[in-house]
Amino acid sequence: MNSYVIDGVFTPRASVKKGVSVYTPIHPQQLVASCLQALRERQPEVFQKTETAFFGCVSQVNDQGANIARNAVLSAGLDWSVSASSVNMCCGSGLQAVNIASALVASGTNSVALAGGVESMSRVKMASDGGFMDGNNDVLRKRLIQVPQGISADYIAASEGFTREVLDEFSLHSHQKAAAAAQKNYFQSAYALVKDEVGAPLLTRDDHIRPDTSMEGLSQLKPAFAALEEQLMAAGVIGEGKTLDKFGPFHTAGNSSGIADGAAAVLVANEKFIEQAEIKPRARILKFVAKGSDPIVMLNGPSACCSQVLRECGMSPKDIDLWEINEAFAVVPLQTIRNLKIDSSKVNINGGAIALGHPLGATGSILLVSLITALEKEDKQIGCVTLCVAGGQSISAVIERV
Ligand SMILES: CC(C)(COP(=O)(O)OP(=O)(O)OC[C@H]1O[C@@H](n2cnc3c(N)ncnc32)[C@H](O)[C@@H]1OP(=O)(O)O)[C@@H](O)C(=O)NCCC(=O)NCCS
Repeated sequence: MNSYVIDGVFTPRASVKKGVSVYTPIHPQQLVASCLQALRERQPEVFQKTETAFFGCVSQVNDQGANIARNAVLSAGLDWSVSASSVNMCCGSGLQAVNIASALVASGTNSVALAGGVESMSRVKMASDGGFMDGNNDVLRKRLIQVPQGISADYIAASEGFTREVLDEFSLHSHQKAAAAAQKNYFQSAYALVKDEVGAPLLTRDDHIRPDTSMEGLSQLKPAFAALEEQLMAAGVIGEGKTLDKFGPFHTAGNSSGIADGAAAVLVANEKFIEQAEIKPRARILKFVAKGSDPIVMLNGPSACCSQVLRECGMSPKDIDLWEINEAFAVVPLQTIRNLKIDSSKVNINGGAIALGHPLGATGSILLVSLITALEKEDKQIGCVTLCVAGGQSISAVIERV
């Protein structure tokens, strides 16, 4: 049976500077609850039929611990009978949550499900679950040593010949496209506003964008991961004789995804439900794939993952009207564009995580809602969303506007 996205919203992403964002006073459960409240207002009949919920979140400790999905659902006042699970597939979490919900409704296990994601990177810092990249498992670590993502990004740039200028140029365009979209209020209809205690919105548009970004400014930024690379090289973890043996041009704060807070929620239902309820959905989920790749090089999975999902749809990259390729680091979309020979004018047409920020567990579902919004506004049909995932995984979905 087909599965459909009935509707979706996301909070404007709040940039985290020196550990703080405008959302820092807001509990991450409440970021999700703001999205649920907006969906309830937009789709009251479908919303009240929700049976289950899945929310992605990466650092599931402290304020994001205790099954954040269940507590968010309770906090938003949904019926107690709605089950809720927190999903962690690192940066793929928000899309994996939607894909799980989609599979459940497509199988007929459920009729209506909520999905989405959240990350308050200001309240719960990246990596604050304390497990490094491998959960501190010495047995696994003897077999392979996983390194932080920035190091893998620098390795891919070096080994595949992407220059610093090309990385910076991509980032400049990300900021320019995001600034142009913000100027037009492109995502106004997709936003769920997070409000303070007197009901005033804390943010009305993504605030990580730097419209004044220039090639000159970007070129002056220092490598963000070089010191860590030197440390790991001295310790013999990377360098000559290892999988990761060369680095640079280096990623910087200007061409890496920004640290941000945010959340998203999507309402998913199956064909039987939408026919009986006579609901017009916004998009059909055609296929989705999650796939492992080299756990050390780590970030180069999207090409194979997209190739597989397109093959399963009987499509080629040329059939995709619009792409959302997560800008974890500039080299990730650049490599995917090059490998799949994608027309870059169809990629991230409103900017991406370099300009807008990457609230880890939320981004997958934010990108999905952004893609649906863009397909509608640009009057296009087919879209593909993909993200690289730490630990050597990736995730993709192909959707069709209804
Ligand atoms: C790269 C990273 C370490 C930088 O963090 P940071 O140093 O806190 O970043 P900041 O926003 O403070 O920016 C650092 C500097 O770059 C400057 N800068 C950032 N973007 C810029 C731009 N577009 N143009 C000009 N300068 C810019 C800032 O103004 C700041 O300058 P300052 O130190 O003089 O104030 C962080 O963004 C990061 O880790 N990103 C990747 C996250 C990640 O791994 N996610 C998972 C992906 S798989």
